[in-house]
Formats: sequence, structure tokens, C-alpha cells
Amino acid sequence: MTEEVLELFRPDVEALRAGDLSFTEVLENRRSLRGRGAAPLTVRQLGELLFRAARVRDVRATRDGDITDRPYPSAGAAYALELYPLVGECQGLAPGVYHYDPLGHRLERLSGPTPEFHALLDEARAPVEPFDRPEVLMVVAARVPRLAWKYETLAYSLVLQDTGALVQTLYLVSTALGLRPYALGRSDPDLFQRVAGVDGFAEASVGAFAVSGGEPAADPP
Ligand SMILES: Cc1cc2nc3c(=O)[nH]c(=O)nc-3n(C[C@H](O)[C@H](O)[C@H](O)COP(=O)(O)O)c2cc1C
Repeated sequence: MTEEVLELFRPDVEALRAGDLSFTEVLENRRSLRGRGAAPLTVRQLGELLFRAARVRDVRATRDGDITDRPYPSAGAAYALELYPLVGECQGLAPGVYHYDPLGHRLERLSGPTPEFHALLDEARAPVEPFDRPEVLMVVAARVPRLAWKYETLAYSLVLQDTGALVQTLYLVSTALGLRPYALGRSDPDLFQRVAGVDGFAEASVGAFAVSGGEPAADPP
């Protein structure tokens, strides 16, 4: 979407298999955590979150064309959802609006912080004291035609179901990383369209996920 791209951190999956929290621990610890943690989110943690939750793991050819394999499920492997991290505060990353490229595992920088960007982050403030803004707000947007050509009238419902699957995966990975996540039921689609510079008829926001730093990040290997 832009020439200004930033390669993200790629964790070693084999090392994670050997030393990660147990599945039960992650599932039992998962909860919505609002407000700021002991340490701010880092670009390494953001990279690890996106890698483990949303990257393209593989591309496969089918008779309908190439499909991708990712950590979260998607109806017909159509993967109609796009992630737009709105970065308010993240160590190592300039504030602004980004698009996540799941194939290249990198961020595309779309714009810097504008008044509308701040309005969208303000809208995502936690509903409980101290009403902090999330450090990063990930807006989930849907390119519905990716599903509609095949599923027609089912497409809208499938987009919403895919959104739930993605949000839960982001919750679980955030929990494994010791971050502070919460899903957001409301995020102004018109405001998002203006902030990200996308055509709302081609790509509409359907969900949002807030994440802030928790425990201090581990040292890079
Ligand atoms: C679709 C959805 C929308 C949500 N919207 C918000 C929200 O707008 N603000 C918020 O603080 N939490 C929101 N949450 C988090 C819920 O309040 C939270 O999941 C619920 O209270 C259960 O708590 P737990 O996640 O800690 O288990 C949302 C969760 C989901 C799944």
C-alpha cells in the first residue's frame, strides 16, 4: 500500500514450541486487560504478536487460485480481513497508521498522527479508570469481495465469524506474550476510512483490538 515499509521481528517457532507457556496456562490466563502495564509495548512484541497470530505461514495453489495458510481459521481460506495497527505509543516505532502485510510480515506506513487518528485512539479508551488509551489499536477491516464471489449472501456473516476467530487468536497470543489486550465492540467505520485512506465500500472496518505493553520484553536472542 506504500513504499515506506518496515520489516518486523520474526520469533523462532521451534524455540517457542520448546519453551512457550502451556496451552492451558494461556487459556486460563486470558482476560481483557485495560490500562497500561509495567513497560510500554515494543516493536519487537508487536512483531511477535502479528507473526504468531496473523502472518501467512504458507501459500498453496488450488483450482480457484492461490490460497494462504495462517494461524487463525477463515471461511474457505479466503482471508478477507486486513489489520491496520494505529500506533499511539510503541518503543521503536513512530506513531501513525500502518497496514500489516501478512505475506511479507512487515508494516506499511500509511500516515502520521492526524487529529482524526487521535480521535480514533481516544474512542478506544478503556471504559474503566484510569481510562487510558491503548498503546496500539488494531482495526480489523474486511475486503468482502474476497468472500462474496464464492459465498454470495453468506459473505457478511462469514466476515463477522472470521473476525471473532482473529480477535480470539490475538487475545491468546497477547496473553502468551504477557501483553494487555482487549477487544473493542465499537470503532467508527467512517473515521477509520478517513484515517487509513481506504474506500469504505471496498474495505469496511468490522472490529478492533486494543493492545498495550505488560511485562518488560525479554532480551532478544
Ligand atoms: C466482540 C467484543 C467486543 C468488546 N468490546 C469491548 C469494548 O468496547 N470495550 C472494552 O473495554 N471491552 C470490550 N470487550 C471485552 C469484554 O468486555 C470482555 O471480553 C468481557 O467482559 C469478559 O472479560 P474477559 O475478556 O476478561 O474474560 C469486548 C469483547 C468482545 C468479544
